[in-house]
Amino acid sequence: MKNVVVKNAGELITCQGQAPKTGSEMNELGIITDGAVVIKGGLITQVGKTDEILKNINIEEFEVIDAAGKPVLPGFIDSHTHFVFGGYRADEYSWRLQGVPYTEIMERGGGIINSVAGTREASFEELKESAWKRLDSMLSFGVTTTEGKSGYGLELETELKQLRVMKELQEEHKVDISPTFMGAHAIPSEYEGRSGEFIDYLIEEVMPLAVEEGGAEFCDIFCDQGVFTVDEARKLLLKGQELGLKAKIHADEIAQVGGAELAAELGAVSADHLLKASDEGIKLMAEEGVIGTLLPITAFSLKEPYARGRYMIDNGLPVALATDFNPGSCYSESIPLLIALSTLQMELTLEEVITALTINAAAAIDRDAKIGSIEVGKAGDLVILDAPSYTHLAYHIGVNIVDKVIKNGQLVVNG
Ligand code: NIG
Ligand code: FE
Repeated sequence: MKNVVVKNAGELITCQGQAPKTGSEMNELGIITDGAVVIKGGLITQVGKTDEILKNINIEEFEVIDAAGKPVLPGFIDSHTHFVFGGYRADEYSWRLQGVPYTEIMERGGGIINSVAGTREASFEELKESAWKRLDSMLSFGVTTTEGKSGYGLELETELKQLRVMKELQEEHKVDISPTFMGAHAIPSEYEGRSGEFIDYLIEEVMPLAVEEGGAEFCDIFCDQGVFTVDEARKLLLKGQELGLKAKIHADEIAQVGGAELAAELGAVSADHLLKASDEGIKLMAEEGVIGTLLPITAFSLKEPYARGRYMIDNGLPVALATDFNPGSCYSESIPLLIALSTLQMELTLEEVITALTINAAAAIDRDAKIGSIEVGKAGDLVILDAPSYTHLAYHIGVNIVDKVIKNGQLVVNG
C-alpha cells in the first residue's frame, strides 16, 4: 500500500473532537487552512499545515495528491440504508404520486412485502451485482462507509443471503459496510396476525445465524404503528444485545409509539426517522447518548413533515443524517439532495450537516474510533470537492461537487 500525502487543502475540514458532537459543538468543524494529511498503510499519521507537514517528511517516499486549494473533508458515512434488495417498486411510486399514502400501500400488500418477494426471488449474484452498482454510486457522492440492513427476506435463507452479499461486498468493494440484521422489518404473510410468534422465530432461528454466518453488528426493528410494538422491539433487541448485536430502532416514523423512549431505555446506539418522536423521548435519548439519525429524503419522498432536527440539536441530542436508501420510501442515495433538504427544510446549518454526515454518523455505527474525522490514527478516507469552499456543498443545490475520493489512502474516485 502506497504512502500518500494530500497537500494544499484550502480548507481541511477535520471534524476532530469527541464523538458524538452535541449542541453548538456540531458547528465546530476544526478547519485548518492550507492543510495537509499524511496517510501511511491506509491510516492517517499526520495532520497539519501544508508547509509544516512537507518539512517533516521525505517527499520521495510519498505519492502526492495536490488538492490545489480545494476543500478536503472526511469521507461521508451513510449510517442508515437498505441497499441490498431485489426488484423495484416504480409502480408503487407512481401510485404515491397520485396521492395514495404509504400506509395504504402497505395495507394493499405492497410496500416492504413487495421487495421481500423480489429479494427472495433474486439470486445471490443478482443481489450482489445490483448492490455493487449502488455502492459505486454512493462512492461517487463521497460516501466511504455505509451501513446496510437485511430485512427484505423475513426468513432465514434470504436474510442470510442479504447479509452474505454485504460480507462479500465488504471484501471486494472499496466502500466499507456496517451490516445490520433487520429481520423485524415487516410481518411476512406467513405470520399475519402472529407478530409475537414471528419475533420468537427471529430470535430462535434467524438471529444466531445472522451473527455467526452473516456477520451482523447491529439489530434493527421497525417499531411503529401497524408493524412491531414497543414490547416486541424490547424483546428482540434485548436478545440481540445478549448475542452482541448493538441496537438500532426505526422509531416513531408513522406514529408516536414510544420508540425514542425505548431506544433510551435499551441504550440503543441510534434511533432513526423520529418524525413523530415526543419531547420526552428526545430528552431521554439525549440523556442516554442515543444518536438521533434523521432521514430527510424519506420524509420528502413521503411528503411527511420533517423530523424536528433543529429542536433536537438545540435540546442536546447528537444528530446524524443518512439517506435511508431503499426501494420504497426513499429510492435515493443522493448526498446533495440530503444536504439541500437538511439545510433548507430542516433549518440545520451546513456545519451541523457536515458533522451529522461524518463524525456523528461514525458514532451512529459505533465506528467513531476509526472513521468520521481527519485525525491521526483514523482511516485515510477523504473527499476533495471541486469548489472554492465547503460552503458550496449547500450553495450548489442538489449538485454533486465531489471531485476526488480517497479510501484508506487510495485514490478511488478521480473526477
Ligand atoms: O426506513 N420505515 C421502514 N423501513 C424503510 C422502508 C423500506 C421500504 O419501503 O422498503 C424505511 O423507510
Ligand atoms: Fe430505514
